[in-house]
Amino acid sequence: MQRAWAIRRRVFIEEQRVPEEIEMDADDSHAFHALAILDGNAIGCGRMVEHGRRDVKIGRMAVLREFRKTGVGAAILRFLVDRARRRGFHRAILHAQLTAEGFYLKEGFIAVGGAFDEAGIAHRRMEREL
Ligand SMILES: CC(C)(COP(=O)(O)OP(=O)(O)OC[C@H]1O[C@@H](n2cnc3c(N)ncnc32)[C@H](O)[C@@H]1OP(=O)(O)O)[C@@H](O)C(=O)NCCC(=O)NCCS
Repeated sequence: MQRAWAIRRRVFIEEQRVPEEIEMDADDSHAFHALAILDGNAIGCGRMVEHGRRDVKIGRMAVLREFRKTGVGAAILRFLVDRARRRGFHRAILHAQLTAEGFYLKEGFIAVGGAFDEAGIAHRRMEREL
């Protein structure tokens, strides 16, 4: 958890200026967390929480800037999707930053509804059947 928080601090709080009290929420205590490690160093993370009986909500996807666009984010997302499917969930949902929508589209998610504000950043709901 400490290693995931260190990544999220750099990406969300320092880079994207998300307030710390929003970034560090209560879901961390019961979420399933994924950590990407390269040569012993944590470089990316993501998490998922149960969202009703059939759905999981994926979130806090972050890859350190210097390691982006090398497949790390996709590897984390595929890992979470695979785990959710194996645990018997039917659908994954997420709130995508509009600037990251293309990333999730490539992984089979579709946008649902219009844009909305979350932590001062424009988002859109996306979902994917598992
Ligand atoms: C969004 C994020 C997690 C993606 O991680 P990444 O490791 O850079 O993504 P990958 O390298 O695995 O990219 C997989 C594919 O998506 C594409 N992609 C990556 N980021 C993209 C973006 N923002 N928009 C459109 N396409 C994108 C890549 O080009 C790649 O395409 P390819 O397979 O055709 O080459 C990362 O950019 C990040 O941490 N951003 C800052 C935090 C953030 O915005 N998180 C998302 C919150 S919803």
